[in-house]
Amino acid sequence: MMKIIFATNNRNKVEEIRAVTAGRFEIVGLNEAGIDIDIPEPHDTLESNAIEKASAIFELTNTNVFSEDTGLETEALNGAPGVKSARYAGEGKDFQANIDKLLLNLRDAANRKARFRTIICLLWNGEQHLFEGVCEGKIIEQQRGTKGFGYDPVFVPDGSEKTFAEMEMEEKNKYSHRRKATDKLVEFLLSR
Ligand code: IMP
Repeated sequence: MMKIIFATNNRNKVEEIRAVTAGRFEIVGLNEAGIDIDIPEPHDTLESNAIEKASAIFELTNTNVFSEDTGLETEALNGAPGVKSARYAGEGKDFQANIDKLLLNLRDAANRKARFRTIICLLWNGEQHLFEGVCEGKIIEQQRGTKGFGYDPVFVPDGSEKTFAEMEMEEKNKYSHRRKATDKLVEFLLSR
């Protein structure tokens, strides 16, 4: 079975992809590949960071590899926090501090429109392929719900009244940016 490295240390993300590619590809996370590096995310676009991550691992392993980068983009803040979503309130990557900062910066904003955007970069036989997944929605004024992670308690996707943090994983996946990008990647892989 062909091995593909997923350039992430997040086991949940690896399991998610494995669930849909089982039997066709061997998806291996960084831990399992024995790679212990803090991959840099120095760029100001999701695309560049995803490409950098995949390229760094390809150079180390010479194996087909994909990486993923996600950000929350708000209209009123001209796309912020965007590529800085994880570290919006500082290097601590503190979810609650990030939410607090976002709500503060949006306190006078009438336009609450926002979207999550995921970019997956696949390096396949040396060729680069990008897959995008977008989820449109809005940022509410007070957080609701305890499930999920990150900005889930303040994000309501279009077509629902619930925040992501009020949804079970299965329901979130009907809307999820990451799921849409992942579906495109899997479709590509399964067509090989
Ligand atoms: P990553 O690229 O998946 O690590 O995402 C970067 C940051 O975006 C995370 O630290 C979260 O703050 C935020 N984020 C990404 N995906 C989601 C999501 O599905 N819900 C809420 N926040 C998210």
